[in-house]
Amino acid sequence: MPGRVIFARQCAPCHGTAPGDDGSPMLPGTAALTAKYEGRLPGLLELRSDLSAPVLNLFVRRGSGAMPMFRKAELSDADLAAIADYLAATARENASLAGH
Ligand code: HEC
Repeated sequence: MPGRVIFARQCAPCHGTAPGDDGSPMLPGTAALTAKYEGRLPGLLELRSDLSAPVLNLFVRRGSGAMPMFRKAELSDADLAAIADYLAATARENASLAGH
């Protein structure tokens, strides 16, 4: 399955760009990371170029604060690698659109 599809199913419900179900202006993952980095890094994972497969592995397998952990039965190592490739590609695309 392509990383884009896996990300859309498993991650975008919290890390997408949409407003939250509870009327909040951002989804919880996007909101938490926007607050955490205060503009030093984007709140949106798809704009981050620093999330290599090993870094993603740490956060996704262990969880982090309000972020749940994912077991291999829910999300395989291959799925996680596909997400890492997808995030690297979207970050590159965004940087080239921005002229960097
Ligand atoms: C139930 C909501 C939820 C889901 C689903 C979710 N996340 Fe998160 N994620 C969060 C929240 C909230 C945080 C911020 C945690 C904190 O630091 O307080 C976070 C943090 C992260 C971070 C840490 C980034 C940083 O710089 O601290 C990464 C990486 C991440 N998520 C990746 C993913 C990936 C990949 C998926 C899909 C496999 C995913 N998340 C699914 C809610 C979620």
